Amino acid sequence: MSRTSNHTSTTSISSLKKGILLVAFGSVEASANTALANIFEKVSAEFSGIDIRWAYTSSFIRKKLKAKGVEIDSPLTAISKMIDEGFTHITVQSMHTIPGVEYNYLVEVVELLKKMPKGAQSIEVGKPLLYSHQDIEKVVRVMDESYPAQEQEAVIWMGHGSPHFSNVFYSGLNQYLGHDCNHHFICTIEGYPTLDDAIKWLRLKGVTKVTLVPFVSVVGMHVKKDMCGDNEKSWLKMLKEEGFSVECVLKGTGEMDRFVSLWITHLKDAWNKHLV
Ligand code: CO
Repeated sequence: MSRTSNHTSTTSISSLKKGILLVAFGSVEASANTALANIFEKVSAEFSGIDIRWAYTSSFIRKKLKAKGVEIDSPLTAISKMIDEGFTHITVQSMHTIPGVEYNYLVEVVELLKKMPKGAQSIEVGKPLLYSHQDIEKVVRVMDESYPAQEQEAVIWMGHGSPHFSNVFYSGLNQYLGHDCNHHFICTIEGYPTLDDAIKWLRLKGVTKVTLVPFVSVVGMHVKKDMCGDNEKSWLKMLKEEGFSVECVLKGTGEMDRFVSLWITHLKDAWNKHLV
């Protein structure tokens, strides 16, 4: 598209500086780095020569990391730095799973920064993993094809859960999963559905063997402690107590390339929204 007819627009192609900011919730666990490094590598392969950076939305995680000597910027700081460094087109990619609290906070920060005097020419935000009907269909396909199950087996996915209304994405996923592949169920640590709902479903299906799989991007505290920890309240322990034989998968969605490529599709959509 040519916008050069407006003679006040003096930006020449050579002065364009495009950059990508990947934004995750963040984790203090070293095990999370496998997923983050994989995401970075896959994005770098698609956008060679482009400056790619990270920011974390969780101030709690950033503070804990800082105490360990690791400094990760907030989205506000990271984007401000990019503006100061002369980036003209910034694509911000949400590495979150649902459009919940963290994603909406990110969108609001970007809306404010778009209004900055002498700011970037354009800032676009890429959608989280789940946003549209098509996203859910694609995610369900990846879930089903990544973890097939035999008779009396089922896969229970551990979602985070949210007080935000977009928590309904998890129930929505179960609806889609029920139609397309009825040996999968997703429940959450901090929202609805709960593990109790999953147990009721397992009984109804006559399942005896369960595989627990993270539906969070990284293997952090929730996976290591709440999903398959040694403590009494871990899902692993509770399911075993209910008589199921249980296996845990210690691999976040950020380590699964088919999920990562869905995020990258959203990144490309945002990248292509810039008018230059
Ligand atoms: Co949490």
